[in-house]
Formats: sequence, structure tokens, C-alpha cells
Amino acid sequence: TKRLTLGDIAAKRDAGEPIVMVTAYDFPSAQIVEAAGVDLVLVGDSAAMVVLGYDSTVPVTTDEMLMLTAAVRRGLTRPLLIGDLPFGSYEASDEIAIATAQRFIKEAGVDLVKIERGGTTVERARALVNAGIPVVGHVGLTPQTATALGGYRAQGRTAEAAQAVIDDALALQAAGVSMLVVEAVPSEVTAALMPLVDIPVIGIGAGADADGQVLVFHDLLGIHAGGAAKFVKRYADLRTAAIDGVRSYADEVRDGAYPAPEHSYRMPEGEAARLKG
Ligand code: KIV
Ligand code: NA
Repeated sequence: TKRLTLGDIAAKRDAGEPIVMVTAYDFPSAQIVEAAGVDLVLVGDSAAMVVLGYDSTVPVTTDEMLMLTAAVRRGLTRPLLIGDLPFGSYEASDEIAIATAQRFIKEAGVDLVKIERGGTTVERARALVNAGIPVVGHVGLTPQTATALGGYRAQGRTAEAAQAVIDDALALQAAGVSMLVVEAVPSEVTAALMPLVDIPVIGIGAGADADGQVLVFHDLLGIHAGGAAKFVKRYADLRTAAIDGVRSYADEVRDGAYPAPEHSYRMPEGEAARLKG
């Protein structure tokens, strides 16, 4: 199987064929999403919350993200791999952004990097593109700066706020990004944006008009406890299946049903007698 190219993704968009993106965070989840036939895999900094147990995406470090991202790379062949640059690893200067993105490429084999927001991130995006690094922009709800946005809530709910999201998207497109993620905005904002852009737009909580959709692996498979955002649809209940499996194992250890003879090694003929002497 050959790796998809950005040209293949653009061709899907141009043909009106929906683009499927999902997150993954380790070798088995990468193999699972590859087997399911997705187009794009993001090692999201959502890893901070769903894999590492932090309360937000802010604390996760570049080294933590690189370890997870390199494991995903080892499990993927065909989909394009996007590395999410964590909070604090790209904002301060173009030089810092380029150095961090180069680590994701050299140490974790990503095809593209994703950075959040408009504002100063537009300049960082331009610098990365000029350095030959393909970039995914991310507008609307940007979790790394959610505090400044008033929390984890939909963005662009007034005409002015919607225009600000659209302006960020257009500025990123002008800076040369290859793709946009639009998170948690009313469908009308995405509908207004689509005719203005000619790069693939991947939505998450952004309605049905985007060129593709992305969801977090743990959300769509029902792996973690607790509630999820309005836009999450659960396609499986792996947490319940996993608890049932581990509980059955615990029960069988406690009642002696496991291990059975078929799970046990035996000595060759005669050796057991010699052992007893
Ligand atoms: O970190 C993440 O998983 C993301 C997607 C939800 C777009 O940024
Ligand atoms: Na992210």
C-alpha cells in the first residue's frame, strides 16, 4: 500500500468525496484506524486528556507528543499523518515553530503539522510553509487557548464572531496552509466559509458542509468515562466491553477457572518423574 499524498486529498475534495480523519495515539490505535480505511490520522494533543489524564491540552509536552506520534507512525502505511504541535512549542517565534515542526518530521515521521488559531499563528504558518513544511490550520474553538475564548464552547455564534473565524481561516489559507480544521462553530459559519476557500476543510462540531470530518478515537469508540461534547457520536462502547473482559478475567482467577490445562506448559515425558526424584 502506498502513502496517500496531499494531491490525493485535494482530489477527493475537488470530487466532492468526503474526507475521513480520526485521531490515534499509539501503535495499536494506528493499526486499527488504518485497517478501517481512514484518509488522515491526527495525533492530536487531545492525547493530553484522553491518554495522559491531564485536565486540558495545555500541559502536554513536545517530548510526550513525540513519543506518541512516533508510535503511530510505526503503525501506519497509507493515511497521511498529522502531528499536533502542543501549546508553547510554536507560538513565540518563527524559529521556535520551525525547530519544533522539524522535530516532529525527523523524530516522528509526520507528513504535516497542525497549529491552532489565527493571530500570530498566521505568521508561524507562513514561516513553516516557507521552510517546506506542510501545515494544517485550526480555527473556531482552539482548546489550547480555550480560557481566552471563555471556555470549551462553540465559537462564531454572532455575525461578528463568525466573521472573525472566517477571517482567521482566510488568513491561514493566504499563508499557504494545506488544510483547515474548523472546530465547534455553528453550521452556518462553515457554510459561509466553504465558498471562500479552495483547500480541504475538515470539521469537528462544524456541521455537514465541511469537506471532511474528524473525531477523537476515544470519543467515537466510547473508551473513556464521562460525558462528551455535543458533536460526538459514539459508534462503539469499548469501555464497557473492556471492563467486562477484565472483570471476567478477575472472576476466573478468583474462582480457579483460569488458567486451565490448555494455558499451562508441561515438561517432556519422564522429566516430571525425574524432578520428583
Ligand atoms: O487534538 C485533537 O484531537 C484535535 C482534533 C479534535 C481536531 O485537535
Ligand atoms: Na488538538
